[in-house]
Amino acid sequence: MTTTKRAEPDACSLLDTDHKNVKKMFSAYEELVGSKAASAPAKKLELAQQICMELTVHTQIEEEIFYPAVREAIKETDLLDEAEVEHASAKDLIAQIQGAEKIDDMFDAKVKVLGEYIDHHVKEERNEMFPKARAAKGLDLVAMREQLAARKEELMAEMTEAA
Ligand SMILES: [Fe+2]
Ligand SMILES: [Fe+2]
Repeated sequence: MTTTKRAEPDACSLLDTDHKNVKKMFSAYEELVGSKAASAPAKKLELAQQICMELTVHTQIEEEIFYPAVREAIKETDLLDEAEVEHASAKDLIAQIQGAEKIDDMFDAKVKVLGEYIDHHVKEERNEMFPKARAAKGLDLVAMREQLAARKEELMAEMTEAA
């Protein structure tokens, strides 16, 4: 049996799929901004809640599983420090969005700024962190994919139960 390890889906490809999904949700939100439809506020609220849930789970699996392993395996740990600071800023904004009392212009602004933060953060992961993680020796990213997927499922179930 031949192995095709390079092309195999790994932890980074799982995380990047999350990045693409949340990007789509931000775009869908942006399309609703300025809509005069009576249903727009309810749709925006639902989307914003979904975005917050996705990002909460995503940042948690990175912080619990991916980041510590990468921190062990690569030399440039400043990349990891910055990523963790960026997560903290994003979480602050997520908490503001989740605690908002009305869907007004400020709410739209918060979702928009969160989208911009995440765009910036994702670019660094995709262009800097993931290539370094993939090049690192002794990091089994293919096995880690399973671990991330299992933890993600667990957290999603917890959150939908709590909602
Ligand atoms: Fe990420
Ligand atoms: Fe991240």
